[in-house]
Amino acid sequence: PYPTYSKLREEDPIHAVRFPDGQSGWMVTRYEEAEKVLKDPRFTKDLSKIYGGSMDQMSVFTQNMLFSDPPDHKRLRGLAQKAFTPKMILGMRERIQEITDELLAAMEGRDQVDLIDEFAFPLPIIVICEILGVPSADRDKFRLWSNSMIEGTSGELGVTVQQHMNEFVQYLGQWFAKVREHPGDDLISKLIQAEEEGDRLSERELYGVVTLLIIAGHETTVNLIGNTVLSLLENPEQRKLLMEKPELVNQAIEESLRFNGPVEFSTSRWAAEDFEFQGKALKKGDLVVASLNSANRDPDQFADPELFDIQREKSPHLAFGKGIHMCLGAPLARLEGEIAIASLLDHFPKMGLAVKSSDLEWRPGMIVRGVKELPIRL
Ligand code: HEM
Repeated sequence: PYPTYSKLREEDPIHAVRFPDGQSGWMVTRYEEAEKVLKDPRFTKDLSKIYGGSMDQMSVFTQNMLFSDPPDHKRLRGLAQKAFTPKMILGMRERIQEITDELLAAMEGRDQVDLIDEFAFPLPIIVICEILGVPSADRDKFRLWSNSMIEGTSGELGVTVQQHMNEFVQYLGQWFAKVREHPGDDLISKLIQAEEEGDRLSERELYGVVTLLIIAGHETTVNLIGNTVLSLLENPEQRKLLMEKPELVNQAIEESLRFNGPVEFSTSRWAAEDFEFQGKALKKGDLVVASLNSANRDPDQFADPELFDIQREKSPHLAFGKGIHMCLGAPLARLEGEIAIASLLDHFPKMGLAVKSSDLEWRPGMIVRGVKELPIRL
């Protein structure tokens, strides 16, 4: 998509579009305007303000902090926030390292693996399952449901997607019933307790927040790991530098987030009223999507933006969004990325791409950016 972004940034940075479902809206590609979109309260994330109460089909997606405005947003985010404080995340370092080492040990002695399937996917999902307290043994089911829901949001809500959503909701319902009988000290138990304490969380919101965390845990960090490995393999001098100076790993993760972020566009926002935005007349209900990956390659913000440079200093990239909806899981994603990349390079210093870059297939849709498979010679 990058050559298209470059053209749009230069020629039409707030580009009028008609989305496949007929919805009219705007695609924002420059850093300055993208940041404004993310922070401007005249854009709403609350679908009911646009579509009224007819959102039942999507409700497991939308009854959560990501699709709410203040004051609901603060309440919903506050409840989940407890599991994602920097202190809690740091406390997970050892366990994340342990899971990483187990996954790497399972790859030992093999000539070639699909790194997504064997490493980049299982690591974040095992971690989020443990935080939530759901069995990580069911992770293949979660993957199917999550992929289906995320790809479903990019087009028509087809029969299979609807069926997967139903299965997923049924699974959660059964799981919540179990947890109500035998609560633990995991996040779902804490959320259920909050629900039982009264008006802080409704049943629909409980489904909503758990769904959001499962999807966020599946669709993002996997691509952070995959995209970072790919960028390092495609830029051998950067990989060599990182192997010589492993202390650059955090900067490498930040550069990867900027260069090829896992979230292509931020999730959508809608104009809550008619208003003028950067010279364009927006109508109430217009859908506005800001391309984070385009903003992160804006030459007005980043010198040599097309260069993957792990020594780049001060990189105010938008990969985790901005404003009140800025990613809740960012500290966790950064920690997982750091441990994954450092350990992988350490275990398999000679690894290489098993196919040509141009043969890699990218996941469909506008939301996530990541390859479907990443065949690696170990
Ligand atoms: C929100 C990116 C990992 C949980 C967001 C947003 C972005 C983002 C761009 C803002 C969306 C918007 O403004 O519309 C990423 C990236 C990740 C990542 C690039 C990995 C590299 C995670 C993880 C979790 C998580 C691991 C949790 C397990 C959330 C939640 C929100 C969010 C709960 C909604 C926050 C709110 O609405 O207040 N993320 N995310 N994310 N992310 Fe992440």
